[in-house]
Amino acid sequence: MEVIIKKDILMAYIGKVKDSGKKVGFVPTMGALHNGHLSLVRTSRQQNDLTVASIFVNPTQFNDKEDLKRYPRMPEKDGKMLESAGCDLVFMPEENEIYPEPDQRVFDFGGLDEVMEGAQRPGHFNGVAQVVTRLFDIVKPDRAYFGIKDYQQLAIIRYFVRKLNYPVEIVACPIIREPDGLAMSSRNMLLSVDERKTAIILSRSLFEAKAMKKDHSPAEIIQFVDARVSETPGIKLEYFEIVNGTTLLPAGDWGGKDEIVGCIAARVGKIRLIDNINFSL
Ligand code: PAF
Repeated sequence: MEVIIKKDILMAYIGKVKDSGKKVGFVPTMGALHNGHLSLVRTSRQQNDLTVASIFVNPTQFNDKEDLKRYPRMPEKDGKMLESAGCDLVFMPEENEIYPEPDQRVFDFGGLDEVMEGAQRPGHFNGVAQVVTRLFDIVKPDRAYFGIKDYQQLAIIRYFVRKLNYPVEIVACPIIREPDGLAMSSRNMLLSVDERKTAIILSRSLFEAKAMKKDHSPAEIIQFVDARVSETPGIKLEYFEIVNGTTLLPAGDWGGKDEIVGCIAARVGKIRLIDNINFSL
């Protein structure tokens, strides 16, 4: 596996690969990798000739500076994991490679950023769009791979890729869970043993919510999950919403052609976790 730090070298390398007619798959990450990331790499390998991953903890998407400081960084371990998953090339730029000057761009996401994560973390998705567009401009992938766990991020990336006419196919990959159901996340490694036990309530309440769908309305299920999480010590619910998967607006009932998704965010101690479940599958 090649490790490249400079964008000019990466662009020259990928340019040659693309000139020979080969397809490039791209897995952008912030490192602290887990099996969820590796599943994106494996899917890319099946669909492309060259799989590129990036590791870059993007400062512009952190609205909470403490969260940025705390974010786990373990490049050597990440490199080994990527290699074991069959990644061909990893791009590990310094901050000034990505942002030689501050990025002043403000994106319009058609309102998709005004709810849930966007409402709780002002500026977060603008930062995601800043880095993802910059990475796409450098890597020029044919396909890019994102996990469904970050459901709203995926919807927003799809939106701006379409709006800005990026010639890249966005491939959505399933949530990978621990054996007890907790969605894999780089933040899980920051949980204490007790917090890790508490965190299970997120996925458990989502599974229970889905089982209730047959004879309950979205409003009833929201009430149930709110109560379920609120009665659990050590966890603070930020939101649980049942939304239309396209507009991300609250779904009043189970009808319509769009998928319906339950999205949850909560703080376990200081650690903020998110998860979601698709009610339409
Ligand atoms: O999902 C993430 O890890 C990040 O938001 C991304 C897409 C790598 C951009 O920094």
